[in-house]
Order: sequence, then structure tokens, then C-alpha cells
Amino acid sequence: MSDKATLEINGKKYEFPLVVGTEKEVAIDISSLRSTTDSVITLDPGYKNTGSCESAITFLDGEKGILRYRGYSIEELAEKADFLEVAFLLIFGELPTTEQLQKFHSDIKAQSVVDEDIRKIVDAFPKSAHPMGVLASLTSALTAFNPSSVNVNSEEDMYKAIVKILGKFPVLVAWTFRKKNGLPLDYGDKNLGYVENILKMMFKQPNEDYKMNPIVLNALDKLLILHADHEQNCSTSTVRIAGSSHVGLFASLSTGISALWGPLHGGANQAVLEMLESINADGGDTDKYMAKAKDKEDPFRLMGFGHRVYKNFDPRAKIIKKAADEVLNDLGVEDKILEIAKALEKEALQDPYFVDRKLYPNVDFYSGIIYRAMGIPTDMFTVMFALGRLPGWIAQWREMRLNKEPIGRPRQVYVGETLRSFRAIDKR
Ligand code: CMC
Repeated sequence: MSDKATLEINGKKYEFPLVVGTEKEVAIDISSLRSTTDSVITLDPGYKNTGSCESAITFLDGEKGILRYRGYSIEELAEKADFLEVAFLLIFGELPTTEQLQKFHSDIKAQSVVDEDIRKIVDAFPKSAHPMGVLASLTSALTAFNPSSVNVNSEEDMYKAIVKILGKFPVLVAWTFRKKNGLPLDYGDKNLGYVENILKMMFKQPNEDYKMNPIVLNALDKLLILHADHEQNCSTSTVRIAGSSHVGLFASLSTGISALWGPLHGGANQAVLEMLESINADGGDTDKYMAKAKDKEDPFRLMGFGHRVYKNFDPRAKIIKKAADEVLNDLGVEDKILEIAKALEKEALQDPYFVDRKLYPNVDFYSGIIYRAMGIPTDMFTVMFALGRLPGWIAQWREMRLNKEPIGRPRQVYVGETLRSFRAIDKR
């Protein structure tokens, strides 16, 4: 294969180098396009064909349904690793040794107290506030309590900022949940594992000891691993682009949380469950909703189906589907919602509309069912996604800063009015 691509504009030829990734993905490096041509740019709404960076964190092949973190398959990590190990792997590039993992965890624990004044901010939110809005605000508020900026040229400074957010973020998540449920705000327990501690911080009742359910713990650990990174998705690109202005880590993360909230991205897990519940309330007629999803006049979409990059089964959905079955079975939960989900999946996988458009169930189709079985309220689902995605956002932010990437600043093709004269208000 040639190592160059040739482009002809108005009879003039231009050559651009090809960049080939370690998995043989090919990109045309157009970084000199505008300067070598007559200010020509590319136009790619939604960046469907645009690589924004070179990254060594996550590999995804949407056609084959492959997802790997730092070269390890998602299937193997979900089965053999725990969430904190995966966080270390994503952020620092290698699986930790026992000593490294212990140090990482104890450094995180040492940072797991948030300033008492954050309670006042939590208290100021109405209980009706959406937890994602609260979480984004609290993460942003952390900057006020930790004002020193990170010296990204110092590995030590970088490490400190990373363990700080990994320590404090679960407290913010738990407080968001507890505020909503009218429970006193609580701190974690340093004797517990990272994910164990999160569960206890969320669910401990003020008048009784917290009993850990190993099935719930195992399922949550797996869900967090599956959500931990997904290369240049909407929220991650947001974190990278915000961070590219050299704003700090916490501020960058808060932009990612807001981007994740939308129903076309992380908010889909909440939307899926609300959809399944309304189908159930409407008598459970899945055919009716399949027809609505296919009707171009109807804005209804089958939430939890389709993906920008997966044109095959989302590998995370396969793992979660199995986990949902196990969790519901182990917890002895019979859920009509799961039956409706399975019926929709079966119909969609045979329906030409979905088959032709390569619309398969995505990660969010089944995750809400497990969260529900765990006793997590629907509007907290996307918060759980954020908790899982945190190491991915951190890893991508760190990579972007270490690679000294330039500020993200896309161009546009202007299609508005050309120059015209101002008309006084009485002449309009
Ligand atoms: N239900 C019905 N039709 C759909 C759906 C759906 N869920 N998804 C896509 N289509 C149709 C769409 O109408 C279009 O049809 P046509 O070619 O006739 O106009 C075609 O499939 C291609 O869709 P698109 O919107 O151009 O595809 P996209 O790559 O821009 O969007 C998506 C991807 C995930 C936003 C979209 O599939 C969707 O809205 N899905 C439902 C929301 C959802 O589950 N999101 C979670 C994504 S996974 C979690 C994460 O990583 O964020």
C-alpha cells in the first residue's frame, strides 16, 4: 500500500501522508491541508470520519465487535480483573503489581475525604435535581477547594491529582444518591475495597450495619469495568477538548459528566429503563413499539439500540446480558422488564429495518436492569456510568497533556449572510 494519499482540487494535486495504527487502521494526515491549499478544510459533522488524536489506550473494532483496554480484551478483564486494577491499567498503561496496586489504593484512600463545606453545596440542591447535574456541579466545585493547578510536567503532581479525584469522586456520587434519598451524608470505610466502599457509602442506613451482598458487589465491579473507557466518544472527546485549553483535571471532568448525561450517550441507560417501563405499563406490546421505532414520522427510537461505531454486537452488551441473567437469578428477582427487553432484542435482531442498519443492542440495553435489581434508582444510572468512566476520562486527559496536544479548535464552513449594512431600528 502506498504511504500517501493524493487529493486533487481544481486540477492541482496534493499529497498527504498516511498514518497506520498498530491494529492497521489507516488515516490520512491532513494537518497540512489548509496551509498547503487555498485554505481548504474538511467537513465532517459528528466527526464520523475524523480521528482527533493518536491514542494508545483503547482499541475498538466496531465491525468485528472488539473492545480492548491497553491490548487486553474486555471479556478477559471483566472476568479476571477488578475495577481498580483496570483503572490503573487504563491510566498508567500496564497492569499493576500487588505492591503498585496496594500503594495506588492507599494513596486514593488518603484522599477520600472531601471538604465539609461541600455538604453545604449538596444541601443547597433541591431533592428533585437530576443527579447528573448535581454531580457535574460538585465535581466542578472541587476546583474551588483544590485550587492549585497541576504541573503536568511533573509525574508526581499528575499522580497526586489523579488519586485525589479517584478518592473524592465516589464520595460525591454517594452524597448525590443519599441527598436524593434523604439519608445523612456519610464517609466511606478505609478498610474496604474501592467498589465495596462505594456500595457501603451509598446504601448504609444510619441505624444499622451494612451487609455486603457479594453478588451485587461482583456485578457492580463488572459493570464499572465495562464502562471504564470507550476511546473518543462524546464525553471523552469533551474532556480532551476542554483539557486542551489547559484547564485543570477536575474542571475537564465536569464537562465530560455533562456530555455523558444526554440520552444519546450515557443517559441512554435511564432512557432504556423508562422505555421498558412505559412499554410494560402500556400492556407489554413490543410489536407496537417496534413499529414506532421504524416509523420515520415518529420520533420514538428503540433506546439501547444502535451505536456510532459498533455495527455488530456491542461486546459489552453480550457480557452484561449474561450478568443480568445471573444477578436476577441469584437475587431471586423476577422482572417483567427483563422479559420485555429480551422480546425486543429478539424481534430487532430478525427485523430487516434493524438488520439492514446494523442496529444491535448496546451496553445500555441491559445495564439498567442490573442497576434496578441492585436497588439503584433510575435517575442514578448515568451517575453509575460516570463512576465507571472516570478512569477512562483521566487516562485520556493525561495522555492528551503528556502528548502536548494543541488546543482543540475545529473550523467551520460559514453559510450565513454575507456583508450587509446596519439598518436603524425604525427602518426594519
Ligand atoms: N431506533 C430506531 N432507529 C434507529 C436507532 C434506534 N435506536 N438508532 C439508529 N436508528 C436509525 C436512524 O433513524 C437512521 O435511519 P435512516 O438511515 O433510515 O435515517 C440509521 O439508523 C442510522 O442512525 P444514526 O442516528 O445516523 O446513527 P448515529 O451513528 O448517528 O447514532 C446513536 C448512533 C447511538 C446515537 C443511535 O443509534 C441512537 O440514537 N440510539 C439510541 C440511543 C442509545 O442507545 N444510545 C447509547 C449509545 S451506547 C452508550 C454510549 O457509549 O454512549
